[in-house]
Amino acid sequence: MADTTRKEDFANDLFPIQDTLEEMHHVNNPVLDLPRIEKQYLSQVTGYTQERNSFYFTDGRSKVEVKVFSEDIIRVRLAPEGSFLEDFSYAISFKEDNYVSYELEDTETHYHVKTNTVTCSVKKSNFFISFSEEDGEVLNNDFSAMHWEENQDYGGYYVYCTKEAQSDEVFFGLGDKASNLNLRGRRVKNWNSDTYSYAFNQDPLYKTIPFYIGITKGKAYGIFFDNTFKTFFDFASENQNQTSFWSEGGELQYYYIHGPQMMDVVKRYHSLTGTHYMPALWALGYHQCRWSYYPENKVRETAYEFRKREIPCDAIYLDIDYMDGYRCFTWNKRYFPDPKKMIADLSANGFKTVVMIDPGIKVDDSYWVFKQGHQNNYFCRRGDDYFMEGFVWPGRCQFPDFTNPEVRQWWGTLYKGLVEDGVAGFWNDMNEPAVFGRGTFPDDVRHQFEGHRGSHRKAHNIYGMQMVRATYDGLKKLYKNKRPFTISRAAYSGTQRYSSVWTGDNIATWEHLRIGTLQLQRLSVSGLSFCGTDIGGFTGEPDGELYTRWMQFGVFSPFMRVHSAGDTRDREPWSFGPDWEKICKKFIELRYKLLPYIYTSFWLQHKYGEPILRPIALIEQHLAKNLQREEEFTFGSQLLVSPVLHPGQLEKIVYLPEGTWYYYFDNNTYEGGKEHSIATPLDEMPFFVRGGSIIPEYPVMQFTGEKKVESLQLNFYFALGQHESTLYSDHGETFAYEQGVYVEKHFIADCTLSSVSIMQGEQGIYTPYYSDFKLYLIGLPFVPKTVKVDGLQVNLEKDAEGNTFIKIERDFKKITIH
Ligand code: GLC
Repeated sequence: MADTTRKEDFANDLFPIQDTLEEMHHVNNPVLDLPRIEKQYLSQVTGYTQERNSFYFTDGRSKVEVKVFSEDIIRVRLAPEGSFLEDFSYAISFKEDNYVSYELEDTETHYHVKTNTVTCSVKKSNFFISFSEEDGEVLNNDFSAMHWEENQDYGGYYVYCTKEAQSDEVFFGLGDKASNLNLRGRRVKNWNSDTYSYAFNQDPLYKTIPFYIGITKGKAYGIFFDNTFKTFFDFASENQNQTSFWSEGGELQYYYIHGPQMMDVVKRYHSLTGTHYMPALWALGYHQCRWSYYPENKVRETAYEFRKREIPCDAIYLDIDYMDGYRCFTWNKRYFPDPKKMIADLSANGFKTVVMIDPGIKVDDSYWVFKQGHQNNYFCRRGDDYFMEGFVWPGRCQFPDFTNPEVRQWWGTLYKGLVEDGVAGFWNDMNEPAVFGRGTFPDDVRHQFEGHRGSHRKAHNIYGMQMVRATYDGLKKLYKNKRPFTISRAAYSGTQRYSSVWTGDNIATWEHLRIGTLQLQRLSVSGLSFCGTDIGGFTGEPDGELYTRWMQFGVFSPFMRVHSAGDTRDREPWSFGPDWEKICKKFIELRYKLLPYIYTSFWLQHKYGEPILRPIALIEQHLAKNLQREEEFTFGSQLLVSPVLHPGQLEKIVYLPEGTWYYYFDNNTYEGGKEHSIATPLDEMPFFVRGGSIIPEYPVMQFTGEKKVESLQLNFYFALGQHESTLYSDHGETFAYEQGVYVEKHFIADCTLSSVSIMQGEQGIYTPYYSDFKLYLIGLPFVPKTVKVDGLQVNLEKDAEGNTFIKIERDFKKITIH
């Protein structure tokens, strides 16, 4: 296509070469070797103006906006020259709280912007900004006034914010960092990068989540630095008493999120950036992936083996080789002569088919996707108007500009054929974006950016998010009322509204198993709870033990998928011989038993922003000694695990938070608030249930929905006191839950040494399939004599293994046991 790169193509001059306003706020090179002039700081506050919930403070030249978003969220923005950029963000999905009450107090030394829970103070003499609690205790304070640095080449700025770091302060968050949970002492960078076989502490990786949580004096707060340029965070690394964040361009704009519980900070961060939509139940089953399963026979054989060996599995993946010459949205007809038939057969056997889609579109005049994209001017261009070209799997490619809503709309329609073929889920990869050789796009690539045009420096970190957004939005239309399933490798804050994520190309080593446990805990408190690792490791070869221990951790990974590179040996649960297969099968079955609990945890994430994986620091932040613990974590609020991370390990020290805990495999109880030595035979792992919980369990199924559960098992684990449990049910596949077609049941258990009462309340209008419960009583300190359900006496029953249970109607109001 000789003329594709000519300037005449720009009939509408969509991409002017001269820099836009945002570009003017940017300097080119992060390394400190450019000609620079001195840093400039805000000076004394000379006055303020107010527009509704925004207060604009000035030092005569610059302006700072302090905006009350809600009772607990305050945004700060800096305009060095006094004029703000247009208020736009890809991350924020927050609807402003119009009823929030706030006031401004003007004292001799400060202006205080106050809500009922948090105060933002601006010091008049030096423009330092601080945030304090209701009782006046300051949690977060500027170390220096906000500042910026001009670059003479561009006339733009680096923007900086430097805060005090308290001596006891620890830092969590930042999404996808392969390092210890507490980030204190580290400096990190956000620039989405394709990092094949990354190492511990390697930075940056695939995702940008510029949100952190600080905990000092037992209290937590959050900072979300909503800036899509390359950003940096220094957590008391360069200076022990300072925490800084800065960017190569764009605005200095951050949200202060009040706690004081870390759980509250995370929930409020979710309220700003959104939660994950409710995934279809099948998406929470076990997924089998490989680069690549082809041809068709290989796929069928793999599926057949699962069913033959009775190892549950819900999804099978097709990596890039299903495509014709790696052209997205096509089939390689030699490998897959009749994909529709194959997918239908798999589906009849309970398997969903998930396929890969990359952003690079092969430059090929005879390829319909390329032709459409080209005719409509949908591909990214360089600063000199030439198309952005780079090599990826198909060879020479061009790349859609996903920051253009029209392009996203088009991209969404491209899935039509694959959806009609029966594909149930889509996996968006290489969307950092990754380009062979040069890593990513050059900085001068232009992006439409929702009308706020700018270069790749501004769009790079949100490119992947906008790709998967286009995918999700398109699928939502194509699947009509069915919930799409998407996975993305790159992300920016807010990606959880459109996709699950995985941690990219890890390595089959014990160290990487450990890194994975850190990454998933971190992603979870950073808004991306629907996350997983490549179980078994992507590159390299695990032995049976590593693979099996990783599978055990996989049960407690919100997204559970085995995946591996093309040049590795087989990775199916049976690939390491019958002994390992048996254990893997037991654990995959465990995943299926726990599905109603897992589904409920996803609901609590979706509805209330509760993270699915929770580090001990989130559960017991008041105990300073626990803030550094990272090997134990909970899945939801009631299950705790501590994956086995070393070969040959036969026991492990496990810390259990306060309360009573039941070891899942034998129901022995352990007292919380201390460490225990737990045996770790190969077919078990430290897995505990919090005393007082009611945990729903399904019978083992080969795939979700295989059996209709008429009588749902509930396991009640006795503990003194009052405890609440939730059980969520809905249709499992449609968006009807958005109209209230779901049921959220609450069980309140009240326990004494001689009695137990359980009350049930519920909300929602869905009638679940199960009509009764089988309530198992575990750990009662007394022998029950009378059991009454809503006043009527019922009998205790025993199952085949001699375990005691009561059969009760689904809609009971109250059970009493004496
Ligand atoms: C990338 C992905 C990996 C995939 C491979 C081939 O490396 O991270 O998961 O298998 O590309 O598509």
